[in-house]
Amino acid sequence: MVVDATQDEIQAGRGYEALFVPALFAPWCDHMIGGAGIIEGAHVLDIACGTGVLTRAAHACSGHSGRVVGLDPAPGMIATAKEVEPDVEWVLGSAEDLPFADGSFDFVISQFGMMFFQDLHQAAREMYRVTKPGGRLAVAIWHTIDLNPAYRDIVAVLEEYVSPEAANSVRLPFSLGDPDEVATILSQAGFDGIAFETKSEQATFPSTRTMVEVELRGWLPLFDIHLSEGKIADVLTLSDVSLSKYATPSGKAAFPTTAYIMTAQKPE
Ligand SMILES: C[S@@+](CC[C@H](N)C(=O)[O-])C[C@H]1O[C@@H](n2cnc3c(N)ncnc32)[C@H](O)[C@@H]1O
Repeated sequence: MVVDATQDEIQAGRGYEALFVPALFAPWCDHMIGGAGIIEGAHVLDIACGTGVLTRAAHACSGHSGRVVGLDPAPGMIATAKEVEPDVEWVLGSAEDLPFADGSFDFVISQFGMMFFQDLHQAAREMYRVTKPGGRLAVAIWHTIDLNPAYRDIVAVLEEYVSPEAANSVRLPFSLGDPDEVATILSQAGFDGIAFETKSEQATFPSTRTMVEVELRGWLPLFDIHLSEGKIADVLTLSDVSLSKYATPSGKAAFPTTAYIMTAQKPE
């Protein structure tokens, strides 16, 4: 697939891959691969793949005899994913309208993407449709922001020094913290054997300032919130005190995060 992404979108994708992926998302891939139970030769669809960290892990697991597809609606994410791993099938598309035939995949996986879907019920029906009978689904979803206090602190910084809209954009990823709500949606789509496990992982950023900088430079622009260099410098300085508790002796920033991995099956 030829991806038509602007230079700004490609820069945002590369920034996401360089900053967010190693710090926050990569540690979750083992939970997802294990939770889904992906095996060699499997056909796997990773929905909301971003720059493809989980897709690459699935590819390593399913081997050359398998088929692994990463799907995301953001051209810059898909362009970067392709740059990093040209050997995987990357598709531009959204969860609500999957461009695949019924029963195409043994495993459908999605890591920290569901909270952004426009229509969760439609996306669940689509995930069900493209899963083979007997196939499995695994999704990773952050618990509430109260259970992820470092993000509560980042939201407080944005609320105080940027704007309520900026703060809300960082609350959004934590908006599906109720596993029962997601279980009901999956059940209504037809999945059974629905179960979830809570997992914790350490997030590690190069510094406490980077914790905020990735949001200012890599997240807010996705919501059309663009700050001047002067404003970014001010916010980073002002955030020093409230985020200093996350500093490690080596000067990095580290904090625990918690999410749940929900798994389900399409009946035979
Ligand atoms: C936080 S990122 C997670 C990316 C990746 N799974 C990872 O672990 O790094 C969320 C992704 O959801 C994608 N997304 C947003 N709305 C979507 C939709 N309706 N269907 C599929 N993906 C969507 C975004 O483009 C973004 O790449």
